[in-house]
Amino acid sequence: MWFVKLIGAVASFHCNMTKTLMLLFLMGVLCSDYEVDYLKESICAAKGSSVIINCTFRYPTERVEDVMWGHERSDIFNGPFIYQNTLMPNSSKFEYIGDKESNCSLKIHQVESTDKGKYTFRFVTTADKWTGQSGSTINVVDLNIVLNHNQTLTEGRSVTLTCIAISIRHNSSAFIWFKNGKRVHEGAVLQLNNMSHTNSGNYTCSSKMCVGTSGIKRIDVEYGPKNTSASIISVMSSNITLVCSSHANPPVEAYTWFKTAGGGSLVVAHQSVFSPADGGQYFCSVTSKHGSQNSSIVKVEMKASWTAFPRYVRCVLIITPVALLLILITVIASIRCYKKRRFTSKIECEEDVQDPIYANCPVFNNNQTQENNEENLEIVYATVNFDTKRKTHMEQQMTSHDDDDIIYSVVCRK
Ligand SMILES: *[C@@H]1O[C@H](CO)[C@@H](O)[C@H](O)[C@H]1NC(C)=O
Ligand SMILES: *[C@@H]1O[C@H](CO)[C@@H](O)[C@H](O)[C@H]1NC(C)=O
Ligand SMILES: *[C@@H]1O[C@H](CO)[C@@H](O)[C@H](O)[C@H]1NC(C)=O
Ligand SMILES: *[C@@H]1O[C@H](CO)[C@@H](O)[C@H](O)[C@H]1NC(C)=O
Ligand SMILES: *[C@@H]1O[C@H](CO)[C@@H](O)[C@H](O)[C@H]1NC(C)=O
Ligand SMILES: *[C@@H]1O[C@H](CO)[C@@H](O)[C@H](O)[C@H]1NC(C)=O
Ligand SMILES: *[C@@H]1O[C@H](CO)[C@@H](O)[C@H](O)[C@H]1NC(C)=O
Ligand SMILES: *[C@@H]1O[C@H](CO)[C@@H](O)[C@H](O)[C@H]1NC(C)=O
Ligand SMILES: *[C@@H]1O[C@H](CO)[C@@H](O)[C@H](O)[C@H]1NC(C)=O
Ligand SMILES: *[C@@H]1O[C@H](CO)[C@@H](O)[C@H](O)[C@H]1NC(C)=O
Repeated sequence: MWFVKLIGAVASFHCNMTKTLMLLFLMGVLCSDYEVDYLKESICAAKGSSVIINCTFRYPTERVEDVMWGHERSDIFNGPFIYQNTLMPNSSKFEYIGDKESNCSLKIHQVESTDKGKYTFRFVTTADKWTGQSGSTINVVDLNIVLNHNQTLTEGRSVTLTCIAISIRHNSSAFIWFKNGKRVHEGAVLQLNNMSHTNSGNYTCSSKMCVGTSGIKRIDVEYGPKNTSASIISVMSSNITLVCSSHANPPVEAYTWFKTAGGGSLVVAHQSVFSPADGGQYFCSVTSKHGSQNSSIVKVEMKASWTAFPRYVRCVLIITPVALLLILITVIASIRCYKKRRFTSKIECEEDVQDPIYANCPVFNNNQTQENNEENLEIVYATVNFDTKRKTHMEQQMTSHDDDDIIYSVVCRK
């Protein structure tokens, strides 16, 4: 009996010892002054995305000397490390966005399959070293969009887009679809029925369980010409310019301008921009790979303009005012001349020569012999006596009206 008691006592003692040891151990862990806290135990990241391992750390009052991040591929205590503040600075792949105080977050850029695994943070203080052994595990998922057919996506057709996550089990309702970055649908499958140009865009999918998105799948719905219009873009003097515009995907290949004539229509041009030669009703027709469309009619009115007149009319229109102007100038000049003539001699009026002494004598040039001229010309020398007290009637008139010097002139006689 006592034997049973003894065994019981020993067992109890052993049990108590284990409990005590466990308690001590737990106290040691819980009450440790050193700690690294990874906010997430595991993170799923889409291939090609950037992911942040959120992390904080704690230590007694001493100063932090070094911080480092290790990956499970190497020794988490001794390295080599993927980041080490003193030895291995930021790389294009791993960027330490934390600090040396309490934030130990790490950013991993352009995640690849080889980046999966457990990451641990280690820090060295002036007193001790510590590694947060629990770590944070990265799972890499390859998200892809697949289409149910490979035909050209034209208006009215339908297509099914499926988001496929390779290397991780997914709850199918965990998928989200984005079009040009805006959330449009939930679920693994996105069905686009009776498509129109409004369905075109960049599609991506993502999983609620993972960071990042799939690569872009471009949906480009093709359609024939729409909203075809003919309009007047400029009116410059007599030149009116019309332009034909239309929306089509792929773009319009051919433009044709028509002029309506007696119930039918005539082809007048083959470019999008066109300058009609005369007024009338015009419209354009556009053609692309997926069809053709006609614009509504645009009415062109040619205003009476300069170039519309025949050439001789334009000549008359230019010459008449010029001629009138010339006549007017002549008349004014004549009137002024006539008024002046009433007070001055005829010679002064007609002659505009600077040196009037030789005004009325023909100038002999070297070719002409003097003999020849002497036969024809007889020079009469005259002496003009001037009495300042007794002036001639003409002189008196001149001085009374004009204070200019009196001009003497030699008169030749034939
Ligand atoms: C990291 O944690 C902080 C604090 O909880 C939070 O505000 C922040 O959004 C987290 N960042 C990421 C990338 O998870
Ligand atoms: C690493 O990048 C972070 C954020 O860009 C910056 O704050 C830090 O100073 C960089 N560290 C080194 C060692 O270059
Ligand atoms: C750590 O710092 C980074 C960059 O400043 C910040 O995004 C992150 O939220 C911080 N983490 C915590 C847990 O405070
Ligand atoms: C579409 O074409 C790609 C290659 O061009 C091929 O890998 C894919 O299997 C095709 N999909 C279908 C549904 O035919
Ligand atoms: C999938 O997740 C949704 C919530 O996200 C949940 O309601 C549903 O029951 C889950 N389905 C399966 C099969 O786990
Ligand atoms: C497809 O869409 C066009 C307008 O975008 C509409 O007129 C037509 O009725 C639709 N067809 C079907 C089958 O829903
Ligand atoms: C779609 O993506 C392409 C490049 O992949 C870009 O050039 C284009 O601007 C994007 N379109 C929209 C509407 O975001
Ligand atoms: C045609 O014009 C309408 C109204 O302005 C517009 O809603 C529609 O998007 C246009 N269609 C195309 C293909 O540009
Ligand atoms: C009218 O203008 C258009 C462009 O503005 C030009 O191409 C065309 O040659 C001009 N026509 C005449 C007759 O001046
Ligand atoms: C556009 O107009 C031309 C000339 O009148 C005609 O032959 C053609 O059938 C029209 N096209 C359409 C799509 O209405």
